[in-house]
Amino acid sequence: MKDIISITRSHNSSLCLLQNGEVTFHIENERLSKIKYDDYCFNAISHLPKYVSKVDVIALAGMAPAWKIDPKRNSNLIYCDQIFRLNKSFNVKTKIYDSWDNHHLHHAFCSFYNSGFKKSLSIVLDGSGSEIVFDNDDKNIFYGREGLSTYVLEYPMKYQLIHKKVSYPISLKDRKWNKTLDVINSISEAKLFECVSKHFGFMWLDAGKVMGMASYGKEDNNIPPIYINGNINQKLFKLKNNELFDVRINIENYPYLDTKEFQIQANFAYKLQKETQEYVCEYIKKMIEKTGIKDVTLSGGYFLNCVANDYIRKSIPDINLYIEPLSSDTGVSMGLAKMIWHDQNNDNIIRKQKNIYYGFHYDYTLEDIKNENWVKCNVEDVAKELNNQKIIALYQGRSEAGPRALGNRSILFDPRNKDGKDIVNKIKKREWFRPFAGTVLKEHASKYFDIEDSPFMMYACNVKTKDLPAITHIDGTCRVQTLEYEQNKNFYNLINEFYKITNCPVLFNTSFNIDGEPIVETLSDAINTFKKSSIDILYLPDMKVMIKK
Ligand SMILES: [Fe+2]
Repeated sequence: MKDIISITRSHNSSLCLLQNGEVTFHIENERLSKIKYDDYCFNAISHLPKYVSKVDVIALAGMAPAWKIDPKRNSNLIYCDQIFRLNKSFNVKTKIYDSWDNHHLHHAFCSFYNSGFKKSLSIVLDGSGSEIVFDNDDKNIFYGREGLSTYVLEYPMKYQLIHKKVSYPISLKDRKWNKTLDVINSISEAKLFECVSKHFGFMWLDAGKVMGMASYGKEDNNIPPIYINGNINQKLFKLKNNELFDVRINIENYPYLDTKEFQIQANFAYKLQKETQEYVCEYIKKMIEKTGIKDVTLSGGYFLNCVANDYIRKSIPDINLYIEPLSSDTGVSMGLAKMIWHDQNNDNIIRKQKNIYYGFHYDYTLEDIKNENWVKCNVEDVAKELNNQKIIALYQGRSEAGPRALGNRSILFDPRNKDGKDIVNKIKKREWFRPFAGTVLKEHASKYFDIEDSPFMMYACNVKTKDLPAITHIDGTCRVQTLEYEQNKNFYNLINEFYKITNCPVLFNTSFNIDGEPIVETLSDAINTFKKSSIDILYLPDMKVMIKK
C-alpha cells in the first residue's frame, strides 16, 4: 500500500494525499471552490490525476453514518464515484475505509504523528465529534456525540481512551457512566463559542471574532456565569428542541444579553473566554496527573483559540506541548490517512511537522503575468517599499494548510505604523476590533515577545515593546509566528532586509484575502484580489517581480 487519498467530509472539507507515509499535498476545498468552510471536496479531487496514476486506499473521515444526518454528504459513494471516474486505474484494487465513528481519534492522531513525540497524551476538543452508539452495562443503548476526548497514543497506531465526555442531546440525568465516559446533557466549550458567535450575528464557525472581542471586555456583574458547580450553565445555553446543533442563548432568562451594544457583547465574550480557558486548562492538568505523561498534544477546533493556548502554555510550563495547526476539521483527513499508513505498514518512523506548506505545486512564468504592470525587483526593493508604508501582498510557492498565512499567501505591512490595524482592517473589510498577527525572525523573538518558538502562529503572547502598535492588540498581546531561514527563505530574507533598514525584525502578517473570502490559492486568484483591493504591490519572489497598479 503506497497511495492513500483521505477526505474530510464535513465543514472545512479537505483532501490529503499520503504517499509512502509522506504528505504529497493537503488542501482545504474552500481554497479552490471559494466557498468558505466548504462542505464538499470535489474541486480538490479533480487535481488527483496530476499526482497519482493508481489509488491504493480511499479513506473517508466522517461524523455520522450515511443513513443518519445529511445522507448525501455522509455517503462514501459520491466521493468514490468521482475519484473512479478520473482514471480507470484508480478502482482496480482500491480499498475503501468508511470511517465515521472516530472523529476525535482522527484529530488526535493528526496531532500525534505531527508532534514528533514517541508517545503522547492527546486531548481533543471541538464543537462535536462523531455520533456514536454507546452501550452501558444494562444494555441500554443510546446515541451520543463526542465532546471532549483524551487518549494515550503510541506508534505505530496504538491508542487507549483515557476519558471521553459525551454530549447527549436527549434529556438524561447527569451521571458518571463508567470509568472512561462522562455522559452529560450538555455541550462542549467549542460549541459555546459557536453559539455566541451566532448570537453576535457572525457565522457559527467565526469563533475567532468572539475571541478578538473578548480582549475589549471586562468583569460585568450582569453577565451570568458560564459554569455553575463545574457544569455549563444550562439556564444560559439552551438546546432548542433538545437538538445539539441548535444551541441558543436563553435571552428569556437573561434579557441583558439581548443586545447589539459592543461593550456588553465584549463583556460576555470576556467571561466566556476566561471561564472556558480556565476550565479546559484544569481538565488538561487532571489528565496529565492521571496518566503521568508530559508530552501533550492538543487538537480540535477549540485549540485554534490562540489566547486559550497561551494561557495553557503559561499555566502548565513543565510539559512538552504541541498544538496542531490543522486543528479544525481540515486536519482529520491527514489524521486518518496517517493512522491507516502506520497501522497497515507497522511503520514507527517519526515525521515531525516542520512546515505546513502543503498546497499544490504551481509552475508560473512571466508569460502568466504578461498583461500585468510588473517590474523586476530584488528583496531590498520590497523592504524599502514596506518602510515607505506600502501594503504588500506576498505570493509564492505552495499554500499553507490551516487558517493561518505563514508567508506564502500573506499581506504584509509595517508593524510600527500606529494606524496599521485600522488601515488594513479597512482594506480587508474586517470588523474594526479584530487584531493582526506578526512574524518575527526567530533569533529576535524573545526581545519583542514572551515566546521563543511559535512556527505555526498558535499562541497570542505578550508584546514586550511599545514599538509594534499595528500588531499589538488592546490587551497587549499578538499572535506570533517565529521564523527560521530553513522554513521560508524568501520570507526570512525579506524580514531580514526590513530589519537592516529599520532595526525592526518583525513584519505585520495577515492572510491574503479580503472581505471574508477564503485565502487566495492560484496566481490568478492573487492577481484578482490584488486588483480589486487597495493593496499597493503584489510581490512574487519566485520570479523576482513586483506587480504595481
Ligand atoms: Fe472536529
